[in-house]
Amino acid sequence: MRIKAFRKAHFNAAHRLYRKDWSDEKNLQIFGKCSNPKYHGHNYELVVGVIGDIDPETGYLIDLKILKDYIKTEVEDYMDHKNLNEEVLEFKDLNPTVENIAVVIWNRLRKKIASKFEIEVTLYETPRNFVTYKGE
Ligand code: NI
Repeated sequence: MRIKAFRKAHFNAAHRLYRKDWSDEKNLQIFGKCSNPKYHGHNYELVVGVIGDIDPETGYLIDLKILKDYIKTEVEDYMDHKNLNEEVLEFKDLNPTVENIAVVIWNRLRKKIASKFEIEVTLYETPRNFVTYKGE
């Protein structure tokens, strides 16, 4: 039986969306307030979905305590209260848009969660703006 389990998490982080090779004026035109050179923060809401088969022995899909721990080490400890551009390696040369942050989170979790599970990452940058990435 295929089933999907979810775990929610939350982190706060600062970012700036810009391209180094563009002028401040062009960055403002394309990225709006998110290009503020002084950075700004968002309250990110994360939903991690894990898809697989129920283990007939335990009745579990995945031990949600283990999923919780992976999210803590790979996302919360790594990104919470950080300046994504300056402090998170993956964004050294990658614009920390909600799209790219979701892909980075997926890649980090993919390395930890057993390959028999599919995973999907939904990330809210604001209550109304969010993306989902499934590794496709
Ligand atoms: Ni922003």
